Amino acid sequence: MAVKRQSHPVDAGFYQAADEFFTAHRSLALTYDDITLATLYSEILPRDTQLDTQLAEGLNLNIPIISADMDTVTEARMAIAMALNGGLGLIHYNMPERQQLSELNRVKNHVHGLIQDPIKVAPDQLIGEVLDMIEKRKFAFSTFPVVDADGRLVGLLSGHVVKPRYARRKVAESLTPRNQVHTIKQMELGSNPIARADKFFTDHPGIHKLLVVDEEDRLRGLFTMSDVERITQERSAQFKPARDARFRLNCGAALSATRNAFGDLDRERILNHVGALVERGVDVVAVSTAHGFSKGVGECVRMLRDAFPKLPIIAGNVTSAAAVDYLADCGANAIKVGQGPGSICTTRIVAGVGIPQLTALYVCSRAAQEKGVAILADGGITKSGDTVKALTLAHAVICGGLFAGCPEAPGQMMEIGGKLYKQYRGMGSVAAMKVGSAARYGQSTDGTQKVAPEGVEALKEVSPSLDLVLTQLIGGIQSGMGYLGAANLAQLREKARYIRVSPAGMREAAPHDVVEVKTGS
Ligand code: XMP
Repeated sequence: MAVKRQSHPVDAGFYQAADEFFTAHRSLALTYDDITLATLYSEILPRDTQLDTQLAEGLNLNIPIISADMDTVTEARMAIAMALNGGLGLIHYNMPERQQLSELNRVKNHVHGLIQDPIKVAPDQLIGEVLDMIEKRKFAFSTFPVVDADGRLVGLLSGHVVKPRYARRKVAESLTPRNQVHTIKQMELGSNPIARADKFFTDHPGIHKLLVVDEEDRLRGLFTMSDVERITQERSAQFKPARDARFRLNCGAALSATRNAFGDLDRERILNHVGALVERGVDVVAVSTAHGFSKGVGECVRMLRDAFPKLPIIAGNVTSAAAVDYLADCGANAIKVGQGPGSICTTRIVAGVGIPQLTALYVCSRAAQEKGVAILADGGITKSGDTVKALTLAHAVICGGLFAGCPEAPGQMMEIGGKLYKQYRGMGSVAAMKVGSAARYGQSTDGTQKVAPEGVEALKEVSPSLDLVLTQLIGGIQSGMGYLGAANLAQLREKARYIRVSPAGMREAAPHDVVEVKTGS
């Protein structure tokens, strides 16, 4: 006999839907650790859950995760890794505008598997010099394209001849000549370069390298068979890379509502820069400030909406329904929610303002629903469970601290007391504001006045690759969705049932009364 009842009135009295729960707690601002989600009847296995999310018309992600526009988190390398995993990176603006354009270029021109700027050697070098270079730069490969002073392809130096016994020979005497090297014209790569290279390697048994040249025979890239094979296997992965209509990786860029010498919005400068970003294929711009419910941010969003009607725009940060209304009316498609939850933020301590994140997300999500815009939960995510809770109200999360220790984040590793760390700093920290982010916090940008920092400079222990960090995060999200019987993110938002947790309940949630020898991560 089929059992039909999947809900019970007793549960309904304890585990409440968002409207009921947050209204009942209206005088108390709550954050992730203050609540837990109730499990529900499920027919969904975690691995069958769908994580795709739409942030604007034409801006779809395959996982609801964005890396923060911070100068110790997202530049081209992080944005490439995020997009390859199905998410999005927002390139920060604490750099000259032309550098932001070139970071964007690197992401948009990145063909997974195509090494765009291969290490080359010159015909008049000695094999011994090549061996020294391999040793010094610790290359794990020894085959190199050979190019002349104009960058034109001369041949290929095969690893078989890069041996100490040939050290005194010139590269020119030892190379495989140009007419015997397999190449493909850049123009012939088409919309699916990997498939093209894959076919080439199948059609040419024993050939493991394919060089890409332009119309003038200048070297433009290199495919290796092992990379192509790895990527072809990845194709069966559950979460596909996030790409635009031209098969390029998705990428976002942040900007501030810059003011000119008269204190007005610097319209010309912003429009020129965003125009250049759009020309290079930016998928979304984020007008990123600490106080998004302000005249300057609204004017900036409105101006961009008028100038670029189809460009997806993120704006923030806010924590109120009125602010969501305002930015949505100005033309934003997705609103960043979060004032003070970030791991390096001190806004609540310094300025005494900001709202614990879960309450802020609830309040903003209700206005967002009415306006038909997306909500991004920005800051304060420290574990995958926080992400599940955030996604019961938001369309995606933005993470800084979780990714700042990854090798893909900008900055060098440093060793302290035998452990490896990377720098992670708030964009409102003194060091970051000196480089340029002061405007984001409404502080003087000319360096002549004292600033009140709203962020700290910190260290993060070095983490494994972004792929591994995301695997953990995604696994946790899928597991949470399985417990709630949610097949997709819309169902997660609809089904979530909340209850407050006591401090003892919180302690109970973490490992306790054991001697931990191995962490879960
Ligand atoms: P997590 O918790 O992921 O937070 O490290 C990243 C988010 O924090 C915000 N952010 C700041 N907020 N002062 C602040 O009050 C700062 O200096 C600061 N820097 C970044 C930002 O929203 C980011 O995405």
